[in-house]
Amino acid sequence: SATPAVASTRDELRAARADLEGTDIAVVMTMGALHEGHARLIREAREAAQHVILTIFLNPLQFGPKEDLSRYPRTFDDDMRIATEEGVDIVFAPTPDVVYPDGDPGVRVSAGPLGDVLEGKSRPGHFDGVLTVVGKLLHLTGASRAFFGQKDAQQLLLIRRMVRDLDFPVDIVSVPTVREDDGLALSSRNTYLTESDREVALCLSRALAKGADAAAYGPSAIRRAAREVLVDEPLALVDYLVLVHPSTLQDVPEWYRGEALLAVAARVGTTRLIDNTPILVGPG
Ligand code: PAJ
Repeated sequence: SATPAVASTRDELRAARADLEGTDIAVVMTMGALHEGHARLIREAREAAQHVILTIFLNPLQFGPKEDLSRYPRTFDDDMRIATEEGVDIVFAPTPDVVYPDGDPGVRVSAGPLGDVLEGKSRPGHFDGVLTVVGKLLHLTGASRAFFGQKDAQQLLLIRRMVRDLDFPVDIVSVPTVREDDGLALSSRNTYLTESDREVALCLSRALAKGADAAAYGPSAIRRAAREVLVDEPLALVDYLVLVHPSTLQDVPEWYRGEALLAVAARVGTTRLIDNTPILVGPG
């Protein structure tokens, strides 16, 4: 397929967009270091819309001072190869000074209370940074549909909330988590894992699977089954393991039946990993 148009400034993006026929545009937003999970998002976008814009932007606003911004993998040539293979029309890959011409933006989107729990508790301000850049990229690309992965369930929920609460004229589409054959959720951060870290990291997806197996027996059985797997792996430093309501992110009570989210975060070696699975709590 044809190589995508590459835009790195607002003007270049505007010009590339003007070359597209029609206005049916889907956007897939990434921080680069593309893998099969990103490719799946692009494929779903391709099927749903006439045109696909892929954004590659390592957003400094969503990284804390002690986080991995400086060592985050940058693989632009490989990313372009994947974008080409997947039939992307435009790659928008701006630098921070294009996205934030005045430096740190004084005005930002506030994620509110849902941004303070789970990931937000360990990463203060993270979701304000995510929502601010997602809002900007929605405006800049003019997409009518945007695709996000279930892998980052809290991010997906907050983007849906922003779009509803602030009346963004865009449809948000979620895509299931893509995993390796052994269950490990694909992540750009997996490149940080040593071979032995990677073995340890499997306990996250295994815990979720064990929890899901206990779905029929209620919340405490699910939590117990998942926790047992993690306790068996002392090299995984668990930040949280929770079974929460999918839209409030509050722990579900023992009598709860219905859709819930089993989510885990742990440090393995130097790498912070997250994973989650939706679970239908209750008998069949
Ligand atoms: P990034 O981590 O690059 O992820 C880009 C998109 O790919 C997100 O929607 C994420 O949920 C999805 N994704 C990542 N791993 C996946 C997997 N294994 N299966 C399915 N989808 C997966 O998330 C971000 O970037 C940033 O926060 C961003 C939204 C781009 C804002 O900066």
